[in-house]
Amino acid sequence: MPPPPTNEPPLGRPLFLLNLKVYPDCLGPAADRIARTLEELGKAAGVAVAVAPATPDLGRLSTAVGIPVLAQHVDAGPAGPHTGSIPPEAIRAAGASGSLVNHSEHPLTTARVRVTVARLAATELVAVVCAPTVTAARRLASSTPAYLAVEPPELIGGDRSVSTARPEVISGSVAAVHSVAPSVAVLCGAGIHDRNDVRRSLELGAAGVLVASAVTRARSPRDAIEELLAGF
Ligand code: G3P
Repeated sequence: MPPPPTNEPPLGRPLFLLNLKVYPDCLGPAADRIARTLEELGKAAGVAVAVAPATPDLGRLSTAVGIPVLAQHVDAGPAGPHTGSIPPEAIRAAGASGSLVNHSEHPLTTARVRVTVARLAATELVAVVCAPTVTAARRLASSTPAYLAVEPPELIGGDRSVSTARPEVISGSVAAVHSVAPSVAVLCGAGIHDRNDVRRSLELGAAGVLVASAVTRARSPRDAIEELLAGF
């Protein structure tokens, strides 16, 4: 994958990042099917896409598709005698491109986020740091990840989108993050379900969206991905 122009974030902008979490219908071969569909439709739409599968699927997916594959969590500790740990070295060895950090379903302390982002950078992996609020986004921006995704936890997995229920969280996070670290690309997530949610998020200044249940709980993941891509 050729490196993007210097001022462009490493996974592209605007970005559609799909977090499969550990939904039962998104594990193993199902994860491959969804990732291949995301790759096909993202290419057809000319939109930068990436996928974050469950950890056991990371290595296989990294070779199965030609889009960036990210871990959902990473441990900052060193590689070595640390059973069950997921250090950056393991993510890199799997062929993945980076990791989510501090997702609200796997929260870290601010100090731990900083160390983790530094460890990912040292391993030449992309960091997508998650923040629950504008204040947290401003605080975490100083770790200068490539991406910072703001996601109000109370909207995650629900019917109301952050772009309609809390638009000020998006615009406020973009302003707050860029006041600290202009190079950080700000994504938003939580309840994003359709093209209007995506379009509104981009209008509010987001550099892309982080989505899960609109696709992972869809009767047709293909239709759901097409609907979301129509908003870019
Ligand atoms: O990582 C993205 C996720 O937390 C958003 O969840 O289901 O509201 O799209 P969802």
